[in-house]
Amino acid sequence: MFDQVLSEVEEQCRAERVPMLGPDKAKLLANCVEKAKPTLIVECGTAIGYSGLWILRVLKNLGSGRLITVEIEEANAQRARSNFERAGVADLVNSRIGDAAEVLKTIQEPVDFLFLDNNKDGYYACFQGIESRLTNPATLVADNVGRPEPMAAYLEHVRSHYDSETHWFESRRRPGHRDGMEVSIYCR
Ligand SMILES: C[S@@+](CC[C@H](N)C(=O)[O-])C[C@H]1O[C@@H](n2cnc3c(N)ncnc32)[C@H](O)[C@@H]1O
Repeated sequence: MFDQVLSEVEEQCRAERVPMLGPDKAKLLANCVEKAKPTLIVECGTAIGYSGLWILRVLKNLGSGRLITVEIEEANAQRARSNFERAGVADLVNSRIGDAAEVLKTIQEPVDFLFLDNNKDGYYACFQGIESRLTNPATLVADNVGRPEPMAAYLEHVRSHYDSETHWFESRRRPGHRDGMEVSIYCR
Protein backbone atom coordinates (compact mmCIF):
# COMPACT_ATOMS: atom_id res chain seq x y z
CA MET A 1 0.00 0.00 0.00
CA PHE A 2 2.86 2.39 0.85
CA ASP A 3 4.39 2.22 -2.65
CA GLN A 4 0.98 2.69 -4.25
CA VAL A 5 0.34 5.87 -2.22
CA LEU A 6 3.82 7.21 -3.06
CA SER A 7 3.20 6.61 -6.81
CA GLU A 8 -0.20 8.30 -6.59
CA VAL A 9 1.25 11.32 -4.80
CA GLU A 10 4.03 11.61 -7.38
CA GLU A 11 1.43 11.42 -10.16
CA GLN A 12 -0.76 14.07 -8.46
CA CYS A 13 2.23 16.39 -8.09
CA ARG A 14 3.01 16.07 -11.81
CA ALA A 15 -0.62 16.44 -12.92
CA GLU A 16 -1.34 19.43 -10.66
CA ARG A 17 2.14 20.96 -10.86
CA VAL A 18 2.60 20.72 -7.10
CA PRO A 19 6.34 21.23 -6.47
CA MET A 20 8.07 18.06 -5.25
CA LEU A 21 11.59 16.76 -4.90
CA GLY A 22 11.28 14.10 -7.60
CA PRO A 23 12.75 10.59 -7.39
CA ASP A 24 16.43 11.39 -8.05
CA LYS A 25 16.76 13.96 -5.28
CA ALA A 26 14.44 11.95 -3.03
CA LYS A 27 16.84 9.00 -3.25
CA LEU A 28 19.70 11.22 -2.05
CA LEU A 29 17.52 12.49 0.80
CA ALA A 30 16.56 8.91 1.75
CA ASN A 31 20.24 7.86 1.69
CA CYS A 32 21.13 10.76 3.99
CA VAL A 33 18.37 9.72 6.43
CA GLU A 34 19.49 6.10 6.30
CA LYS A 35 23.08 7.11 7.05
CA ALA A 36 22.20 9.54 9.86
CA LYS A 37 19.67 7.23 11.59
CA PRO A 38 18.09 10.33 13.15
CA THR A 39 15.87 10.48 16.18
CA LEU A 40 14.03 13.62 15.05
CA ILE A 41 13.87 15.06 11.53
CA VAL A 42 12.40 18.51 10.85
CA GLU A 43 11.19 19.22 7.31
CA CYS A 44 10.32 22.75 6.15
CA GLY A 45 7.91 22.69 3.19
CA THR A 46 5.63 19.62 3.30
CA ALA A 47 3.61 20.35 0.14
CA ILE A 48 1.37 17.25 -0.16
CA GLY A 49 3.84 14.88 1.47
CA TYR A 50 5.96 13.46 -1.36
CA SER A 51 9.37 14.00 0.27
CA GLY A 52 7.82 13.24 3.67
CA LEU A 53 6.79 9.80 2.42
CA TRP A 54 10.35 9.09 1.27
CA ILE A 55 11.66 10.09 4.71
CA LEU A 56 8.99 8.11 6.54
CA ARG A 57 9.67 4.94 4.55
CA VAL A 58 13.28 5.00 5.77
CA LEU A 59 12.25 5.71 9.38
CA LYS A 60 9.72 2.87 9.26
CA ASN A 61 12.37 0.46 7.94
CA LEU A 62 14.89 1.65 10.55
CA GLY A 63 12.29 1.08 13.26
CA SER A 64 13.11 4.41 14.94
CA GLY A 65 12.89 8.14 14.40
CA ARG A 66 10.11 10.68 13.93
CA LEU A 67 9.37 13.51 11.52
CA ILE A 68 8.01 16.99 12.20
CA THR A 69 6.99 18.57 8.90
CA VAL A 70 5.91 22.22 8.49
CA GLU A 71 3.75 23.69 5.72
CA ILE A 72 2.31 27.19 5.40
CA GLU A 73 -0.65 26.27 3.17
CA GLU A 74 -3.36 24.54 5.21
CA ALA A 75 -4.85 22.75 2.19
CA ASN A 76 -1.45 21.22 1.36
CA ALA A 77 -0.92 20.12 4.96
CA GLN A 78 -4.37 18.46 5.05
CA ARG A 79 -3.63 16.53 1.88
CA ALA A 80 -0.24 15.48 3.25
CA ARG A 81 -1.86 14.24 6.48
CA SER A 82 -4.33 12.18 4.48
CA ASN A 83 -1.48 10.73 2.38
CA PHE A 84 0.51 9.81 5.52
CA GLU A 85 -2.61 8.09 6.92
CA ARG A 86 -3.24 6.13 3.73
CA ALA A 87 0.41 5.05 3.60
CA GLY A 88 0.23 3.76 7.19
CA VAL A 89 2.93 6.05 8.59
CA ALA A 90 0.86 8.74 10.34
CA ASP A 91 2.11 7.58 13.75
CA LEU A 92 5.66 8.61 12.81
CA VAL A 93 4.87 12.16 11.74
CA ASN A 94 3.64 15.39 13.25
CA SER A 95 2.37 17.82 10.60
CA ARG A 96 2.31 21.48 11.62
CA ILE A 97 0.82 24.45 9.79
CA GLY A 98 2.55 27.84 9.74
CA ASP A 99 5.60 29.80 8.68
CA ALA A 100 8.48 27.37 9.15
CA ALA A 101 10.84 30.02 10.55
CA GLU A 102 8.32 30.72 13.33
CA VAL A 103 7.22 27.12 13.96
CA LEU A 104 10.84 25.95 14.30
CA LYS A 105 11.38 28.34 17.20
CA THR A 106 8.69 26.44 19.14
CA ILE A 107 10.33 22.98 18.80
CA GLN A 108 12.01 22.17 22.10
CA GLU A 109 13.44 18.69 21.47
CA PRO A 110 16.90 17.92 20.04
CA VAL A 111 16.85 17.80 16.23
CA ASP A 112 19.44 15.70 14.42
CA PHE A 113 18.26 16.20 10.82
CA LEU A 114 16.94 19.36 9.11
CA PHE A 115 15.53 19.32 5.58
CA LEU A 116 14.91 22.74 4.00
CA ASP A 117 12.49 22.86 1.03
CA ASN A 118 10.27 25.84 1.88
CA ASN A 119 10.48 29.49 0.73
CA LYS A 120 14.09 29.84 -0.40
CA ASP A 121 14.68 33.19 1.30
CA GLY A 122 13.65 31.59 4.61
CA TYR A 123 16.39 28.92 4.81
CA TYR A 124 18.78 30.91 7.00
CA ALA A 125 15.99 32.05 9.34
CA CYS A 126 14.86 28.42 9.71
CA PHE A 127 18.41 27.32 10.50
CA GLN A 128 18.83 30.12 13.04
CA GLY A 129 15.42 29.34 14.56
CA ILE A 130 16.40 25.73 15.32
CA GLU A 131 20.18 25.97 15.74
CA SER A 132 20.25 25.86 19.55
CA ARG A 133 18.40 22.50 19.47
CA LEU A 134 20.55 20.92 16.73
CA THR A 135 22.53 17.94 17.96
CA ASN A 136 26.29 17.79 17.56
CA PRO A 137 26.62 16.60 14.82
CA ALA A 138 23.41 17.06 12.81
CA THR A 139 22.65 16.60 9.12
CA LEU A 140 21.38 19.60 7.11
CA VAL A 141 19.92 19.10 3.63
CA ALA A 142 18.79 22.06 1.49
CA ASP A 143 17.07 21.80 -1.90
CA ASN A 144 17.22 24.09 -4.94
CA VAL A 145 20.69 25.44 -4.30
CA GLY A 146 21.23 25.68 -8.08
CA ARG A 147 19.43 29.03 -7.78
CA PRO A 148 21.44 30.31 -4.83
CA GLU A 149 20.54 34.02 -4.64
CA PRO A 150 17.59 33.86 -2.20
CA MET A 151 19.45 31.50 0.13
CA ALA A 152 22.90 33.09 -0.20
CA ALA A 153 23.23 33.79 3.55
CA TYR A 154 22.42 30.15 4.39
CA LEU A 155 24.86 28.74 1.81
CA GLU A 156 27.62 31.12 2.81
CA HIS A 157 27.20 30.04 6.43
CA VAL A 158 27.16 26.27 5.94
CA ARG A 159 29.93 26.27 3.33
CA SER A 160 32.25 28.34 5.48
CA HIS A 161 31.55 26.65 8.84
CA TYR A 162 30.84 22.94 8.18
CA ASP A 163 31.70 20.02 5.96
CA SER A 164 29.32 20.84 3.08
CA GLU A 165 28.84 19.32 -0.38
CA THR A 166 26.67 20.26 -3.37
CA HIS A 167 25.04 17.33 -5.20
CA TRP A 168 23.95 18.17 -8.77
CA PHE A 169 20.99 16.71 -10.64
CA GLU A 170 20.04 17.01 -14.32
CA SER A 171 16.40 18.02 -14.78
CA ARG A 172 14.27 15.23 -16.31
CA ARG A 173 11.65 17.73 -17.48
CA ARG A 174 14.04 20.41 -18.76
CA PRO A 175 17.07 18.82 -20.43
CA GLY A 176 20.17 20.97 -20.05
CA HIS A 177 18.98 22.41 -16.76
CA ARG A 178 20.33 21.24 -13.44
CA ASP A 179 19.69 21.89 -9.79
CA GLY A 180 21.52 21.04 -6.59
CA MET A 181 21.02 19.86 -3.04
CA GLU A 182 23.42 20.98 -0.34
CA VAL A 183 24.27 18.36 2.29
CA SER A 184 26.09 19.76 5.30
CA ILE A 185 27.20 18.18 8.56
CA TYR A 186 26.56 20.72 11.31
CA CYS A 187 28.88 20.63 14.29
CA ARG A 188 29.75 22.98 17.12
C1 LIG B 1 9.05 22.87 -3.06
S1 LIG B 1 7.59 22.72 -2.15
C2 LIG B 1 7.93 21.40 -1.04
C3 LIG B 1 8.00 20.05 -1.72
C4 LIG B 1 8.08 18.89 -0.76
N1 LIG B 1 9.21 19.01 0.13
C5 LIG B 1 8.19 17.61 -1.56
O1 LIG B 1 9.27 17.33 -2.08
O2 LIG B 1 7.18 16.93 -1.65
C6 LIG B 1 7.63 24.10 -1.08
C7 LIG B 1 6.51 24.12 -0.09
O3 LIG B 1 6.87 25.08 0.93
C8 LIG B 1 5.69 25.74 1.33
N2 LIG B 1 6.10 27.01 1.94
C9 LIG B 1 6.37 28.19 1.34
N3 LIG B 1 6.73 29.10 2.25
C10 LIG B 1 6.69 28.49 3.45
C11 LIG B 1 6.97 28.91 4.78
N4 LIG B 1 7.33 30.16 5.04
N5 LIG B 1 6.85 28.00 5.77
C12 LIG B 1 6.47 26.72 5.51
N6 LIG B 1 6.19 26.28 4.27
C13 LIG B 1 6.30 27.13 3.26
C14 LIG B 1 4.90 25.89 0.03
O4 LIG B 1 3.53 26.12 0.31
C15 LIG B 1 5.18 24.58 -0.66
O5 LIG B 1 4.19 23.62 -0.38
